[in-house]
Amino acid sequence: MEERLQKILAKAGIASRRRAEELIRDGRIQVNGQVVKEMGCKIDPALDAVTFDGKPITFEQKIYILLNKPAGYVTTLSDPQGRPVVSDLIKEFSLRLFPVGRLDLDTEGALLMTNDGELGNAILHPSFEVNKTYEALVQGVPTADQLTLLAQGIEIDGVRTRPAAIRVLQRRRDQTLVEVVIHEGKKRQVRKMFQAVNHRVLHLKRTAYGNLRLGALPLGKCRVLGPNDLKKIFSKKIPFTIKNILA
Ligand code: URA
Repeated sequence: MEERLQKILAKAGIASRRRAEELIRDGRIQVNGQVVKEMGCKIDPALDAVTFDGKPITFEQKIYILLNKPAGYVTTLSDPQGRPVVSDLIKEFSLRLFPVGRLDLDTEGALLMTNDGELGNAILHPSFEVNKTYEALVQGVPTADQLTLLAQGIEIDGVRTRPAAIRVLQRRRDQTLVEVVIHEGKKRQVRKMFQAVNHRVLHLKRTAYGNLRLGALPLGKCRVLGPNDLKKIFSKKIPFTIKNILA
């Protein structure tokens, strides 16, 4: 699709729109081997070869999707056992999108999928401390001491979990709905944390990455994320620009 050159350069993360105009005016941008200095020039990134100071610019489009994963879907692109997989739910996107982290077969909720490995790695890397929020419906009523243990860190598989934020959302007669916020991603972490204090998780749902909440997104549906959504995921500054975003 044709768009103005300065807009395409900005989307590619080369410079802000205003700076891109300066680069064009200064004759530093070439399209198909010709210096282009007019602002009105439109190009198609899929067809035209663009260089900046003689270096080719790539325009691979990045896409970020938030899926509300239902239970019963494996967090993978294909399953040797032939079970339903999360990529079955985003077939309308022709690009190959990878899940960022995993949710167990029986867990539902927020699952980010993208073709941007850099952003995916940043979300998973402990140094960025991206919080993941879960709602766990557990058997019984955990005591205040048990909740404190979970919040302070508890040993699972021989390793102590990092401090977590724990909040009771609802107490029922023999079940409790607990919100758990963690920034690690050990395998079956939330289930094992409750198992360690003898409360079985009956239902588990991830409701947010950072401040990006699942909201009213229906189960099995997804939505394309824009730059403002992505900013909500990180509490720390991301050390790279979000480029070529389709939103
Ligand atoms: N913790 C779990 O136990 N399961 C998940 O899918 C995610 C976090």
